[in-house]
Amino acid sequence: MNADEWKRQAARRAVEMVNSGMRLGLGTGSTAAHFVDLLAERVHQGLDVIAVPTSEATRAQAERLGIPLTTLDETPRLDLTVDGADEIDAELRLIKGGGGALLREKIVAAASDRLVVIADKSKVVARLGRFPLPIEVVRFGLASTQLHIIEQAKDAGCFGRIVQRMERDGSPFVTDNSNFILDCAFDEIEEPEILADALGVIPGVVEHGLFLGLADLAILGGEGGVEELWPPEDELF
Ligand code: 5RP
Repeated sequence: MNADEWKRQAARRAVEMVNSGMRLGLGTGSTAAHFVDLLAERVHQGLDVIAVPTSEATRAQAERLGIPLTTLDETPRLDLTVDGADEIDAELRLIKGGGGALLREKIVAAASDRLVVIADKSKVVARLGRFPLPIEVVRFGLASTQLHIIEQAKDAGCFGRIVQRMERDGSPFVTDNSNFILDCAFDEIEEPEILADALGVIPGVVEHGLFLGLADLAILGGEGGVEELWPPEDELF
């Protein structure tokens, strides 16, 4: 099996957790796309759900596959969100935003009773930070905001190169919310909570990709089958 098949394994297990009547959040990325695909199969078999997508890409996929969609304005509370992650630590703290959808992903996760993360096992790390932390920023004052991020990150013990995310053609990557992304190569984030608090107070920072205390379960596909990673001393279901 390859990484893509492991992602699908994890997605398949997550789809089994969905029951008729549920209000769902649909994540973004290649693993979440497997979930949307498999969910659509169940919808065609009669599963009755409504879902909020976390990106325009996921919206397009879900619409194409016939999954009934809603918005957080119509449906402000969700039962379950299933999403991927770029890194997962043993406490189920995450780095997300590799696909640039972190803002909507975090809003949807926060609106959900449960966030289930699906990934292949390579996403599990001893310490967050090897994957550059994405930070969504408004366009106005970009250079000033970047300087503030450098200063606040330093105070939180994090150093490293910060680059604006670009498209292949050299134009800036623009999020679904018309903002920019700064990718911060901190390498090791010793105290994610301290960094999150520090980033959260910077004017111009819309959201960062640290998802702390949001995930309830991680389903991990990989060699040897699917494994579940629960937060320490926590029981969910
Ligand atoms: C998008 C995300 C994705 O969930 C994350 O990048 C993982 O993607 P993939 O499943 O393709 O590895 O946070 O903003």
